[in-house]
Amino acid sequence: MVPTPITVRVPAKVNLHLSVGDTRADGYHELATVFQALSMVDEVTVRSAEDSGIDVHGEGAGSVPTGPGNLAWKAVRVLAERCGRDPDAPGVQVSIHKGIPVAGGMAGGSADAAATLFGLNALWRLEIGRNELADVAAQLGSDVPFALQGGTALGTGRGERLVPVLARHTYHWVIALDQHGLETPDVYRELDRLRRGSTNNGMGNVEPMLEALASGDPRELALLLGNDLQAATVSLRPGLRRTLRAGVDAGALAGVVSGSGPTCAFLCESADSAVRVAAELSGAGVCRTVRVAQGPVHGARFVGDDRAD
Ligand code: C5P
Repeated sequence: MVPTPITVRVPAKVNLHLSVGDTRADGYHELATVFQALSMVDEVTVRSAEDSGIDVHGEGAGSVPTGPGNLAWKAVRVLAERCGRDPDAPGVQVSIHKGIPVAGGMAGGSADAAATLFGLNALWRLEIGRNELADVAAQLGSDVPFALQGGTALGTGRGERLVPVLARHTYHWVIALDQHGLETPDVYRELDRLRRGSTNNGMGNVEPMLEALASGDPRELALLLGNDLQAATVSLRPGLRRTLRAGVDAGALAGVVSGSGPTCAFLCESADSAVRVAAELSGAGVCRTVRVAQGPVHGARFVGDDRAD
């Protein structure tokens, strides 16, 4: 009997705090980051099919690779190898519906890989446990384990070692999308260039942010938002300075570049305030489009499965 197709919903992330330390021997940078999963989601359907492949729909789908360069396809190959299927003909079609901006610093590609792992684990009845699935996710990319886990979490190592963080509040965000994406390695390279000659690559202290999240006051959290990659992103996209200013002028508590950017995330006092900020920001002509989102939300889960964790 052919198994029923499985659809998985998976969130975008924003980094509330991102400290970048030194480059490691493997070329990655040592990170200390606080992730939050946001209510901007992709939906990924895996179904058994003779002709294996990947199709992508939704906003920005045209710039997502459908071949081996897609991280979701790498996820298929890794699990296929693991369960003795031919990785070149694993017998699965993956359909991705994009709601997460492409190349926007919100880990959309990582989210699709996480959803694919989660969906195939069920479709192929692999029964891989949560921790082991997180290990497979980490092999695929630094942000993939967080997309599986969701919520709010502290990430260390290259971002893949996670500890859940208590966040006592729903936070309201306005997300400003830029015209064109940025490639993450380019942004890290620019940071290395900007830092050349400086010896102070110390990791910022995340403790105050963890306390702010536990208290649940968005004004306290707003004072602590920070991203070491922001200097590099703004150096590559100087126009983002104007976007960041416009969000705060529109009434946001604070704004920060999301991950490697160029998406900017603005923390707002309330749901009403977020709607007002979004309206004003979209009229300011400083970005391609504006969305409203909440966080934290769950990590990858089956569509239709609304049970609490
Ligand atoms: O892990 P992932 O494939 O998502 O990372 C994409 C790129 O981002 C890496 O190839 C590297 O250039 C950069 N990166 C980094 N340090 C990290 C995470 C990512 O330099 N901790």
